[in-house]
Amino acid sequence: MRAFQRCVNPNCQATFDVAEVLRRCPRCGALLDVDYEWDKLPVPKSLAHFERYWAERSNPLNFSGVWRFRELLPFAPEELCVTVGEGQTILRQSEEVGKYVGMTTGELHLQYEGLNPSGSFKDNGMAAGTTHGRMVGATSAACASTGNTSASLALYCSATRLMKSIVFVGSGKIAYGKLSQALDYGARTVQIQGDFDDAMARVQEVAQRSGVYLLNSLNPFRLEGQKTIMFRVLEALRWEIPDWIVVPGGNLGNSSAFGKAFIELTKLGLIKRAPRLAVINAAGADSLYRLYNDEGLRWNGGNVDQTKIDAFYAQMDRENRRAHTIASAIEINRPVNLTKCLRALDFCDGVVRKVSEQEIVDAKAQIGANGFGCEPASAASVAGAKRLVDEGVIGKDERVVCILTGHQLKDPNATVAYHGVDRELYEKYLGSRGVEQTPFANRPVGVENDIEKILALMK
Ligand code: F0G
Repeated sequence: MRAFQRCVNPNCQATFDVAEVLRRCPRCGALLDVDYEWDKLPVPKSLAHFERYWAERSNPLNFSGVWRFRELLPFAPEELCVTVGEGQTILRQSEEVGKYVGMTTGELHLQYEGLNPSGSFKDNGMAAGTTHGRMVGATSAACASTGNTSASLALYCSATRLMKSIVFVGSGKIAYGKLSQALDYGARTVQIQGDFDDAMARVQEVAQRSGVYLLNSLNPFRLEGQKTIMFRVLEALRWEIPDWIVVPGGNLGNSSAFGKAFIELTKLGLIKRAPRLAVINAAGADSLYRLYNDEGLRWNGGNVDQTKIDAFYAQMDRENRRAHTIASAIEINRPVNLTKCLRALDFCDGVVRKVSEQEIVDAKAQIGANGFGCEPASAASVAGAKRLVDEGVIGKDERVVCILTGHQLKDPNATVAYHGVDRELYEKYLGSRGVEQTPFANRPVGVENDIEKILALMK
């Protein structure tokens, strides 16, 4: 049993076969990890080992930005690994966005996950998650989603025909780019009257009662795939470790996966130090921020204070507080991976910040103006980096990597509203959310169908 599932609760640590389909630890209810008996596995001696796969890209597993790191997520036999060409992403340095953030040395890097087949980082996890689904013979898979997970699941299921996809979304809660993908790829799409938190709770019940395979980030195999985002960042930096990784936080799968990647790379002696981690909430969906900064919730060697979390959610329910942000991808108040994220923050000396709607849309416009289209949630990373540079937490000369989690075309309404195309749209998406200015708007210009008037605009 070289790969197995292990309960993250240090007082339990129960282990289970990879062939078991579990959502949480059956003994104590905590989250599960995929773990490995590394000493029985062929672990590379250095990260440069992976460079040999670049020359063998005709093998789809070497082409995959997930599976070319397969020795670091060795839970599946190669012949079962699912790939649709995920992970062809780039890390690009952006001097201009760096300046916006307040950095002096141009060491701001953007990891563009929007280049994935379904347009978001979710494909990294879905390649690994559907692989596990295939290993256990799943015939149908489900997820709750703010949009990108559903798009990704729908794509993997339609491209591979391995299983049927059923996606649960909050009614009226997801951006049309994402909804259109789920529909186009043929997923059974269930709009629950409620938000993501409602859908997430329900889909767990559905999985429990119907036996459908669950592909939310609660699924630890999905997070194995998402570790590779960090491997590709390091690869792009020629295996140098950046000072900071800045990532938007929603359901906290990514931050959890990144932490696990660095914990394992350190344990395997493949890196000497981990970068610091900054997780950025939207101000309208700030449970992690409040729990971490106001309530002082910590990993605490795995003994996370559950009473604090319970009290926090009870208060949230009493106030009937619902997540609300233009960054609809991270419009989540009950992140399922909370404890794993705390572990990542602990290992990576992390910080948590929240950013306003105004900060998000301005950062998004700056990212767009400099050649990277991203959706609002992704821009929270750059807005968060700016805040942390302003605070002096991130040094102006440090090397920072912001993860752009999803493509710009996922949510064109948010972009078009910002650039002032339509008053009604502006009000709906921005004005009603307290965005008062659009300093980086690139307004379209109307003109009569008259060549002289058109030419006059060329100046
Ligand atoms: N950015 C984008 C574009 C996302 O779609 C998500 C999550 C996040 C950031 C947050 O990542 O959950 O790992 O903290 N979207 C999920 C979904 C919840 O259903 O598509 P996280």
